Amino acid sequence: MIKIAVFVGSLRKDSLNKKLAHNLESLLPDGVVFEYVDLNLPLLNQDMEHNLPESVKAMKAIVESADGVLFVMPEYNRGIPGVLKNAIDWATRPGNSFSGKPVGVGGATDGAIGTAVAQSTLRHIVGYLGMHLMGQPELYFNFASKKLGENGEVTGEDKERLQKYVDSFVGHIKKF
Ligand SMILES: Cc1cc2nc3c(=O)[nH]c(=O)nc-3n(C[C@H](O)[C@H](O)[C@H](O)COP(=O)(O)O)c2cc1C
Repeated sequence: MIKIAVFVGSLRKDSLNKKLAHNLESLLPDGVVFEYVDLNLPLLNQDMEHNLPESVKAMKAIVESADGVLFVMPEYNRGIPGVLKNAIDWATRPGNSFSGKPVGVGGATDGAIGTAVAQSTLRHIVGYLGMHLMGQPELYFNFASKKLGENGEVTGEDKERLQKYVDSFVGHIKKF
């Protein structure tokens, strides 16, 4: 069984990024599963580093037992969402839970450039963390509401693109 730890960088109930992640999940081949990480964590405070909150311990355990990590996030003010950066920072203290993990990056927005600026920043971060980034295909899920349709399901060419992303990412994970 291949397990992928999934960070969705939005806490919003009707999040486009949650819907994108669920579409990706529906396209996984047999033997591959998503495990969603709860980003509802305390704000990082180094005073807590040696007495980690249970929620942080649980998040680090999911990452450490995963075969790969997938980030699906909105872009906020041309940067990565604070909730996601907070979770990433926690996962690196003490001890970098991400080290050596294969990683994919993607994001959804109703805007035109598909979270490209935030993803560029995240690509720098995962490189620094010693993760193995899948460079291509990229996942800039722009004009997301239109693509997701009324029931939140992607169809047609958009679905084919997501399938290609999933297949490539699973292949990427298997290399490590
Ligand atoms: C504080 C804030 C900043 C935003 N900045 C951007 C941005 O830089 N680029 C963008 O495409 N959308 C931006 N948006 C719009 C988000 O893409 C949109 O709210 C999106 O639906 C959030 O993702 P979610 O649906 O997964 O919660 C911003 C939204 C908020 C709340």
